[in-house]
Amino acid sequence: MDIAIIGAGNVGRALATSFTQAGHTVRITAQHPEHAQAVAAETGARWIESNAAAAETDIVVLAVPFASAESVAAEIRGAVAGKPVIDVSNRMAYGAEGPTIDNGPSNAERLAEWLPEASVVKAFNTLFASNQVDPNVDGIQLDGFVAADDPTAKATVLELVDSIGFRAIDAGPLARAQQLEQLAFLNIVLNATNGWSWQSGWRLAGAPTAVASAA
Ligand SMILES: NC(=O)c1ccc[n+]([C@@H]2O[C@H](COP(=O)([O-])OP(=O)(O)OC[C@H]3O[C@@H](n4cnc5c(N)ncnc54)[C@H](OP(=O)(O)O)[C@@H]3O)[C@@H](O)[C@H]2O)c1
Repeated sequence: MDIAIIGAGNVGRALATSFTQAGHTVRITAQHPEHAQAVAAETGARWIESNAAAAETDIVVLAVPFASAESVAAEIRGAVAGKPVIDVSNRMAYGAEGPTIDNGPSNAERLAEWLPEASVVKAFNTLFASNQVDPNVDGIQLDGFVAADDPTAKATVLELVDSIGFRAIDAGPLARAQQLEQLAFLNIVLNATNGWSWQSGWRLAGAPTAVASAA
């Protein structure tokens, strides 16, 4: 697959590594060109200067902090019409009692409003960057949950998730992104509050071993 990754931080680097190792072609951007150039040099991805030019691929991964997502969406909107755009983002804030999450629409649903002609897909958010480069933890293959409304875009992303070694799970429509963001939130909070090493990940025991399909 021909993939653009917008963002070259923890997630951008990890997914560029996994995707190139799996034989995919990757273009990568960042706010500071030197950050994307460094990841490109490490992974065999190709650095592209502008987000809009990078997004001229089959699939686009938005690996930026969600605070930057609306402005990036405005830049790539024309280039991503009719294509899968993967939202990896998570959300949390620190309140008086510690980490909190709101119960409003998911980041993915908000991104879909900013990219009405694209097929927004939620994926990779429940996996820490440390696990995105290695799908096995304690000898257990982690799950890669995928939620989307467009069946063709979802099938493409399930295949991508499978290609880098995760058990790809169809989590249902894009509205399920709210649960996927909560699932990630719990793992983040457990690591942050207990001083864990950010290696833990989700595997749904008892689910079929093949790619599951939600009703
Ligand atoms: N870290 C994790 O384990 C993890 C796991 C799952 C999901 N997520 C989610 O993944 C997203 C990225 O997290 P991260 O940890 O990778 O963040 P990060 O390390 O801070 O990296 C963010 C990247 O986004 C780039 N960026 C910001 N604004 C941009 C713009 N307008 N155009 C192009 N690039 C831009 C930054 O560029 P510069 O490098 O030039 O600053 C940076 O490379 C977040 O939404 C997070 O919730 C993170």
